[in-house]
Amino acid sequence: MTIKNILVFPDPRLREIAKEVTIFDDDLRQLSEDLLETMYEFNGIGLASTQIGVAKRILVLDVSEEKNEPRVFINPTVKILDEKEKGGFDEGCLSIPGFYEEVFRPTNVEISFQDLKGINQKISPSGLLGVVVQHEIDHLDGKLMVDYISPTKRQRIRSKLLKLKKNKT
Ligand code: NI
Repeated sequence: MTIKNILVFPDPRLREIAKEVTIFDDDLRQLSEDLLETMYEFNGIGLASTQIGVAKRILVLDVSEEKNEPRVFINPTVKILDEKEKGGFDEGCLSIPGFYEEVFRPTNVEISFQDLKGINQKISPSGLLGVVVQHEIDHLDGKLMVDYISPTKRQRIRSKLLKLKKNKT
């Protein structure tokens, strides 16, 4: 297992649209292990492969308190069952370190995905799990939580993160 570097906004690679996974082999299992290890290392509760520069439709998460319930979603899709039911949640993102913004997302959804063996699965997530899955699926589509906030705020976060990067190198 390897801890990977996480891309930081506004890195253009975060805007890539990830490609469907068609081969369920050891490389895919390795990638999921690396994603989980990286997520735990940086105290995240979810991580999408685009965040480590791999444009494949795979995401991992763990919303348990004990951090002992790793989950892997391959080729996940979200079906909104009720457009009107939405909930706001202060979201953070390992690619936007230090910032938390309230994002409103549908709460009544169904997630279809494949597991590491390629077997189709379906869940109806509630609470935090639903928020995290949707946040991570956004990553696979090149979308970030800052896309939900005002352009002015987004620009401010962008400048701050660019300045931080400049000071590091
Ligand atoms: Ni994120």
